Amino acid sequence: MIPRVRKAVFPAAGLGTRFLPATKAQPKEMLPLVDKPLIQYGVEEAIQSGIQNILIVTGRGKSAIEDHFDVSFELEHLLESRGKIEMLQAVRSVSDMIDVAYIRQKEALGLGHAVLRAKDLVGPEPFAVVLSDDVIDARTPCLRQLLDVYQYFGASVVALLEVPEDSVSAYGIVDAEPVDFNGSRENLFRIRNMVEKPARGQAPSRLAIIGRYVLTPEIFPALESVEPGAGGEIQLTDGLKHLLRSRPVYGLRFEGKRYDAGDKLGFLQATVEFALRRPDLGGAFREYLNSLNPPVAQ
Ligand code: UTP
Repeated sequence: MIPRVRKAVFPAAGLGTRFLPATKAQPKEMLPLVDKPLIQYGVEEAIQSGIQNILIVTGRGKSAIEDHFDVSFELEHLLESRGKIEMLQAVRSVSDMIDVAYIRQKEALGLGHAVLRAKDLVGPEPFAVVLSDDVIDARTPCLRQLLDVYQYFGASVVALLEVPEDSVSAYGIVDAEPVDFNGSRENLFRIRNMVEKPARGQAPSRLAIIGRYVLTPEIFPALESVEPGAGGEIQLTDGLKHLLRSRPVYGLRFEGKRYDAGDKLGFLQATVEFALRRPDLGGAFREYLNSLNPPVAQ
């Protein structure tokens, strides 16, 4: 029987240099998209995908994340006494949402190193990894789509996004062959190899790995055998390459729209599109955008 995925690891210990100075004292995962921090979108996606056991790898600004998912007695008391019941519910739903544990990554030694820090809490079972600066809007949560592939093959699966030729060198790019799944050969691939940030013209495809993974526990010894690269960093892609030697790894071109909210432009795009879609804000925001000269929203 294929074991169920019960846990999701949220690496949130990166330095977030692309967002300085906002990320000097708080992790970029706490930047608010409209009115919720990025990490909450990721946690909600995990919950909607059937995972409630959340492990957050923290670095600087650990307390902001912990406080966010904790009960805030003072705030709840204040809202209650002022009769702000809707706000009270919004605040409570955050702390009621999850069973959360925190792991410390003392030094930002790479995404692979951050995942490895979760080894003892994950144990010998499959698990998900969610990078919450990749915000994904999809009818079926992206992580759920990956879990469906995992449930079928019992193997590791990464999320793939087709990127333009001139962006390949910003990603890990896969060399992969299509596989039949759900009556089509369009979206699922078996990965043969992967290259981290290839030069333009050297990439084996335009399929980039983005921040959703379902991994079998063999990834831990694979990560342990990776030699640290520049700056002592251990990359998850290198761990996956090791894993590929002994286990199949699949890639799913998921259905949905991904925003790179760890980048200023991507963050702004996500902010505008999420705000326009909000029933309580969209109308007024669209009106405002249209009042700009020339108008920017239809
Ligand atoms: P990024 O590659 O976006 O790096 O990390 P970063 O340091 O966060 O941001 P920039 O590039 O300097 O602006 C991808 C994910 O891996 C986590 C980050 O928090 C983010 O979720 N990460 C990265 C860690 O948890 N630890 C690390 O050592 C590196």
